[in-house]
Amino acid sequence: MTTRLTWYGHSAFSLELDDEHVLIDPFLDDNALSPISADEVPADYVIITHGHADHVGDALRIARRTGALVISNFEICNWVQAQGIDHVHPQHIGGGYPHPFGYLKLTIAHHGSSLPDGSYGGAPAGLLLTLHDDKRVYFAGDTGLFYSMALIGEEGLDLAVLPIGDNFTMGPDDALRAVRLLRPKAVVPIHYNTFDVIEQDPQTWCRRVREETPSEALFLKPGDTITL
Ligand code: NI
Ligand code: MN
Repeated sequence: MTTRLTWYGHSAFSLELDDEHVLIDPFLDDNALSPISADEVPADYVIITHGHADHVGDALRIARRTGALVISNFEICNWVQAQGIDHVHPQHIGGGYPHPFGYLKLTIAHHGSSLPDGSYGGAPAGLLLTLHDDKRVYFAGDTGLFYSMALIGEEGLDLAVLPIGDNFTMGPDDALRAVRLLRPKAVVPIHYNTFDVIEQDPQTWCRRVREETPSEALFLKPGDTITL
């Protein structure tokens, strides 16, 4: 089974498996780089890494329209339910669950997680997703560099998706150190150029990954799709 992964800019992704769509951090309508609108994006599942508006994005509206299952930490799922959406699956850091699309484990991320209305959003998370063909993808979420990325790398990563924007998350240098700890087969840079303070040159970063680490680097434009 092949899985298609499409980037919508910033931290927003769609995973397409058979005819099911898993949306991650669907910040679309307020994201000038997104090639798709919240009213048209398909979704059977919506995963939210943390409470910030550039990650929760249009999740509530998409969940209401599609009936998608919302997966996040316990606190964010409580908040989603308080907005009138009951179809949620709460998890938490270190915990995994065999969803129909694959085994999803939440990992630590060093960041904040307050929700757009100021509600408490629990701890921010990264996502470690093992697909049915045992391909493993790590979405770091918003985070600074942490040494136990080496533990995540021990699981054997086919792909790591890392922020490189600096200011709110790892910048290019720390993201390069993250690649060395994670040792993925390939890496995709995200969370850059959406806002002035996170402007970066992703192609230079990709070249540095290829030259300075054993990993491959994939430069995506918003709307680009890769096959896992
Ligand atoms: Ni954030
Ligand atoms: Mn962010």
